[in-house]
Amino acid sequence: MAGNRTLTMIKPVAFQRNLTGPILSKINEAGFVIKAMKFIQLTKDQASEFYKVHEGKPFYDNLTTFMSSGPIIAIILEKENAVEDFRKLIGATDPVEAEDGTIRKLFAESKSHNAVHGSDSDENAIIESDFFFSKTERF
Ligand code: CMP
Repeated sequence: MAGNRTLTMIKPVAFQRNLTGPILSKINEAGFVIKAMKFIQLTKDQASEFYKVHEGKPFYDNLTTFMSSGPIIAIILEKENAVEDFRKLIGATDPVEAEDGTIRKLFAESKSHNAVHGSDSDENAIIESDFFFSKTERF
């Protein structure tokens, strides 16, 4: 059975460009409910840990430098079929390939600066939620 929670991050450039409100509106309109949320600036080591699955890929160093370059917002979202539905809502990793109306099409600048992250499986949604939030910080 599909899980009902996913983890997203509003990435540094989207936050700096003041796109948090518009992005959260799209998320709410799509029926997701916020169950936990925090502002945080990751260290390079923390970003490397979060994205460890990409270690060794050519974009890994840039990705972790970028993700630790400024504040982000980490959010746990709840909805039936959350992981899959959220990935549909944000669109393809590269905004050039993302469908019209998706969050990345609307707000991303490039594949590396793609506005938001979304968990890619129920298993990773749990791992990623545990990365940011203790049991008492989620509802
Ligand atoms: P995200 O959903 O946060 O998961 C991993 C991130 O790595 C991804 O979004 C992109 O921002 C980045 N990424 C993935 N593939 C590439 C690539 N080929 N070039 C640059 N960045 C990438």
